[in-house]
Amino acid sequence: MPEGDPARRAAELREILTEANYRYHVLDDPSISDAEYDSLMRELQALEAAHPELQTPDSPTRRVGGPPASQFAKVRHPLPMLSLGNAMDEAGLREWQARVLRLLGPDAPLAYVAEPKIDGLAVALTYRDGQFVQGATRGDGEVGEDVTANLRTVGGIPLRLRPPDGGGEEGDGTSPPLPAALPTSIEVRGEVYIRIADFEALNERLAAAGEKIFANARNSAAGTLRQKDPALTAARPLRFFAYGVGPVEGVELTSQWQTLHYLRALGFPVNSDARRFERFDEVLAYCRQWMARRDQLPYEADGIVIKVDSFAQQRELGVVQRDPRWAIAFKFPAREAITRLTRIVVNVGRTGVVTPNAELEPVQIGGVTVRNASLHNADYIAQRDIREGDYVTVKRAGDVIPYVVGPVLSRRTGTERPWSFPATCPACGTPLERVEGEAAWRCPNFGICPAQLVRRVEHFVSRGAMDIVGIGERQAEQFVTLGWIKDVADLYSLSAAHFEGLEGYGPKRIANLLQAIEESKQRPLERLIVGLGIRFVGSVAAADLARHFGSLDAIMAASEAELVAIDGIGPVVAASVVQFFGREENRRVVEKLRAAGLRLTAGAPRQRASDGLAGKTFVLTGTLPSMTREQAAELIQAHGGKVSESVSKKTSYVVAGASAGSKLARAQQLGVPVLDEEGLLALVGADDRRAGGLPATPTEPEGQPPAPAAEGQLTMDL
Ligand code: IVH
Repeated sequence: MPEGDPARRAAELREILTEANYRYHVLDDPSISDAEYDSLMRELQALEAAHPELQTPDSPTRRVGGPPASQFAKVRHPLPMLSLGNAMDEAGLREWQARVLRLLGPDAPLAYVAEPKIDGLAVALTYRDGQFVQGATRGDGEVGEDVTANLRTVGGIPLRLRPPDGGGEEGDGTSPPLPAALPTSIEVRGEVYIRIADFEALNERLAAAGEKIFANARNSAAGTLRQKDPALTAARPLRFFAYGVGPVEGVELTSQWQTLHYLRALGFPVNSDARRFERFDEVLAYCRQWMARRDQLPYEADGIVIKVDSFAQQRELGVVQRDPRWAIAFKFPAREAITRLTRIVVNVGRTGVVTPNAELEPVQIGGVTVRNASLHNADYIAQRDIREGDYVTVKRAGDVIPYVVGPVLSRRTGTERPWSFPATCPACGTPLERVEGEAAWRCPNFGICPAQLVRRVEHFVSRGAMDIVGIGERQAEQFVTLGWIKDVADLYSLSAAHFEGLEGYGPKRIANLLQAIEESKQRPLERLIVGLGIRFVGSVAAADLARHFGSLDAIMAASEAELVAIDGIGPVVAASVVQFFGREENRRVVEKLRAAGLRLTAGAPRQRASDGLAGKTFVLTGTLPSMTREQAAELIQAHGGKVSESVSKKTSYVVAGASAGSKLARAQQLGVPVLDEEGLLALVGADDRRAGGLPATPTEPEGQPPAPAAEGQLTMDL
């Protein structure tokens, strides 16, 4: 323990830790590392233990969790906590606005404040003379439960208010005048929630420990907040954001917008996506925009909350039952549903990985009928005890394949059938093997198992690889079943004679198909490398390999050490490449491809269009409106930029298209700037669309399956 005055040191530590906490949770701009934080916290704990008289109610050590509550005391809310009416579409929003105008008069000067509606649970926090004294759940709106001890552990909740004049660093020009003083008493209302990534990690942990998992992020936040043991709550990553106030004394607040700024100045996290609008069409545009970008949020949002800004107007509009007339929730379509899992089937992937899938009673999720959902792997099913016949929660969001979250235990009847992983490959009967340290089971019958072969052909012809229009999943299966194809190179020995007399194949179709196969021989080397389906080698690694070695022969001859030496190639990829070409059957396929006349050498390096993106690293995610990800990567590289597969602090930009998922969430977590396609084009100079070999207009091949995800990379998006 440092020498000197313990009282001074304790005060200093409290100051540093409180500030660090504020910077982390409110400003999203941490000032010290997690390790430093922990070490200072331990020092303060030791000091307070040695000198109990130094403890204060607002000490950061109080966040670690007090004694367990045997039950939660009831708290009556001084002002009821209201709920919200819903609008399911724009028509509903317009009706709401029409009523507001009818009540306030058509010429009333109106402004609206809108922000995402986070799916967590509402709490009310009472502060007296700047100190956090009580926190309660919403309950039924009149009476909630006292969860003060648990709320103390939530990082974003200040234990002591900051003097407001120190805040206000907004500088966005829209900041209204704020009261300069602290309130003598204030009730702050807001939402306790958990981020999606944290929720998924929490469920993984619970499942691995054999404990009950949560059905969704909201339930996990609610369950955690009502834990009897605050230490357990402290161990879980709950967050808070403030969206309003209850009774306030000592200062006067006149609008929602001013209130949000004041709350921020007092030290509360406030949603930085909140906006004030004076025109209702801007409100509608905001709702539309967030509905489309919902998947980019790191938390679950189930809609947008819109409020009339002025408190005077709010009072004039009043409340009906529980729903204020001055606010409305625009609801997004649900993304989760409960349905019955009828059967579990297993599929064999291109590299032999056998994955379990759920067959479901069809259910609508977000406007799409879902019949199948991923079950990830054997451990996932076992840890959650998912059974055939169970009612299950199914989730469909972003670019993630719909997946089963877990069983709805309360709906078990006893007729459900526990399931175990098959011992042999469903396609070829070979006993399955489990690789040490991996969750996946594999069919080791590499190169022969017909299921693997079908998947490999499908991958070879896909858009991101050899792009052979006219061959998809159905044809791959057909050609393999007919015995025409024993490896991907056999595609090049198909002739008109094969198809004559085959149902659905007229002379025109046969000619088109053969031409498409012939043309694919001209695809650049990196596309062929993608097509070979080497585990962990996607378009980025393939391009690195082609550029560096210049020929397939050189890549095949490279050692692991030579491969790892290349920028962008890690040990896992290097080992996988060496292993792939170490197999006799793969070398045979390469020889057949050579004999068929495919390009096994890289063309002359593309002319550099500019060095505008030199030193910048990009990550691509989601579906861009007018180009494939491969084309976007080529464009970036043509301007000297680099493309990488995963988002880190070093990433310069994430380029996100529709249905972007976890990579986008990660970018937002790390504060990496996010661009859309337009943003990328603007960055390279829009005239340069063609610089990377891009067509001026998108060419959408018809009847092509989307490029399958590289196996082994997308088994679980957790
Ligand atoms: S305002 C009268 N703003 O939605 C206004 N609520 O159905 C009361 N919620 O229980 C709430 N995000 O838990 C408001 N930005 C937000 C919100 C929000 C989530 C929840 C809140 C409340 C429910 C209303």
